[in-house]
This record gives sequence, C-alpha cells and structure tokens, in this order.
Amino acid sequence: MILVTGSAGFIGYHLSKTLLERGETVVGMDNMNDYYDVSLKRDRLAQLETFDNFSFRQLDLCDLDGLTALFRDFKITKICHLAAQVGVRYSLINPHAYQKSNLEGFLNIIEQARLSQVENFVFASSSSVYGNNKKIPFSTDDVCDKPISFYAASKRSNELTAHVYSHLYGLKTTGLRFFTVYGPWGRPDMAPFIFTRKILRGETIDVYGHGKMKRNFTYVDDIVQGVVLCLDRPTQYAIYNIGNDRTEELEHFISVVEGLAGKPAVRNEMDAQPGEMTETWADIEPIKNDYGYHPTTRIEEGMKNFIDWYRDYYK
Ligand SMILES: NC(=O)c1ccc[n+]([C@@H]2O[C@H](COP(=O)([O-])OP(=O)(O)OC[C@H]3O[C@@H](n4cnc5c(N)ncnc54)[C@H](O)[C@@H]3O)[C@@H](O)[C@H]2O)c1
Repeated sequence: MILVTGSAGFIGYHLSKTLLERGETVVGMDNMNDYYDVSLKRDRLAQLETFDNFSFRQLDLCDLDGLTALFRDFKITKICHLAAQVGVRYSLINPHAYQKSNLEGFLNIIEQARLSQVENFVFASSSSVYGNNKKIPFSTDDVCDKPISFYAASKRSNELTAHVYSHLYGLKTTGLRFFTVYGPWGRPDMAPFIFTRKILRGETIDVYGHGKMKRNFTYVDDIVQGVVLCLDRPTQYAIYNIGNDRTEELEHFISVVEGLAGKPAVRNEMDAQPGEMTETWADIEPIKNDYGYHPTTRIEEGMKNFIDWYRDYYK
C-alpha cells in the first residue's frame, strides 16, 4: 500500500491516479488547506474516490496523533511525500506556514516512515534549492547552500534530513527536485494557470523580468513518470532533478498561450521579483541513466492539454 501525501494537490492527484490505474492500493492524505481554491482540491479528490483501491484521510502533517493512527490503520509499505506549503512568493509573506508544513511536517512524516520501516520514501524537493546558481544546467553535484527564499531553504532542509534518516536508520530515501510543473488540474498560483486565465479574459498579465526569465517547464505526466520509476526501485539515498530537456523563455511561453487562446496578451512589464530565479534548467542525465526517465511532452502539446482542460473545467 502506497501513501501519497498531498493527494488532493496538483501532482499528488496525478500520481495517485496513475498508481490506481495500474492497480496499486493507495491511501491519500491532505489537510485540504485554502492556500488556493479548495473546490479544485475537492474535485480532484472526487475523481480519485471513484477508484475502489483508494482511501483518503483528511489530516495535517503536524497532527502527530492523527499520523500515528493513519500508520496503525493502514499497512503502508511505500510513501510518496508531496504535501507541502508551496509557492516561492508566499514564503516572503507567511514563512511560518513553511516552518509548520515543510519543516515540522516533514520531520513527522519521515519519523513515521522510520517507525514503520517502509520500503521506500520518495519526496518532493524543488529546483528552487539552486538559488542563483550561475552554472547551467543545474546539476545535483552543484553545491546548494545559498537558497534565496525560505521555501527553497525548507526544501533543502528536507534533503538534508532525509540523508540523516538514510544514514542513521537505513531508510531508503529519494528526493526529487521538480522543475516548474504544469498540466491539467494545475495550480492557480502558477504562471501557466494565471497567464491562461488572464489572456482568455483579456486581462493584463504581469510579465516579470520583462519576459527574459527562463523556466524548465515540465509536463505533469513526465513528472509522474519519474516519480513512479523511483517509487518502484528504492535506493539508499539519492537526489535527482526531474525536469524537461529544454528550457523556455517566458516570452516564448506567452506566445504559445496567445496562439492557443487565439488572442494577444495585454502586458504589464515588471522587474523580476525578489527571491525569484532568473533561469532554471535541469541536468537530467543522472535520472535518465539510472532509471531510464524520458520526458516526452513539448510545451505546445502540454499547454494545449492544459487549456483544453481549463476551458472544460471553468466552462
Ligand atoms: N508544481 C510545481 O511546479 C512544483 C515544483 C517544485 C516542487 N514542487 C513540490 O511538489 C509537491 C507537490 O506540489 P503541487 O504543485 O502538487 O502543490 P499543491 O499545493 O497542489 O499540493 C500540495 C498539497 O499538500 C497539501 N498540504 C499542504 N500542507 C499540508 C499539511 N501540513 N498537511 C497535509 N497536507 C498539506 C495541500 O492541501 C495540497 O493539496 C510539493 O512538495 C511542492 O513543493 C512542486
């Protein structure tokens, strides 16, 4: 039985669905917080609840008694830990939310992983740990000790904590640094969603960094492919990038959305925000070599799927 934390979230929903479709028994947990529209989380969950092999518990990572009960009630053998307070910008406004979910919450779940001696503990890290890394593409061999947001610092701390648990207790842990994930059922606080909504409505978009920022946009199915590969084959301790093999300038990304939306964007040129990275680009050779990971979705195709979903969901 696989525990997916954050299963009502964007990536957690897609991962759970993929696992359920191949016949795994999945238990999901999520605190259903209102960082963004809760109805989107409820609707994702409703899709998962159509599977007989899915169970769900609404639970906060900081509720230790609740977590203990969860591990008592279900025979969990593997964990994919995706629940977290997400967002770089919000961590400048409410750092305590990150301290709770990403630091205390992470410790609570990895402790449960140790106590129940799970076979594999795979968790979400983030490309943000690279800070203003000058070397491109970003490699997991690069030193990551200069994060530029508290969100990034919390994710780097998770990687270090996982190393401790692997070293001291032999827990098999893999941290995956995701690079800007997008796709159907995506997050309303992220650029693909915000740009699509505003361009479709004819509203002004804020173009940070004057469109020159580069992002390694990765389609959610490609991310899920990598996560499943790592869940299936535990390793003692590893950190991998999971991204795309190409990086897109924001400018190009906007033109793809304009083409799909059938109208030009109304733009408000802005300087880059504090804490925001100018470029992200993943070196994915290690996960390709070790696991056969192979991202296949180009931005034009992935954004078409996203916009088709968006139009259908929001009518
Ligand atoms: N989407 C991306 O581009 C991206 C990039 C890098 C890393 N990540 C990481 O991937 C993971 C999944 O991200 P996502 O995009 O699906 O975000 P998401 O916000 O859609 O999903 C996270 C889920 O975790 C839940 N959650 C938050 N705090 C919790 C707590 N204390 N207890 C229980 N549940 C809690 C939320 O309700 C949410 O449903 C996160 O760890 C995130 O940091 C995502």
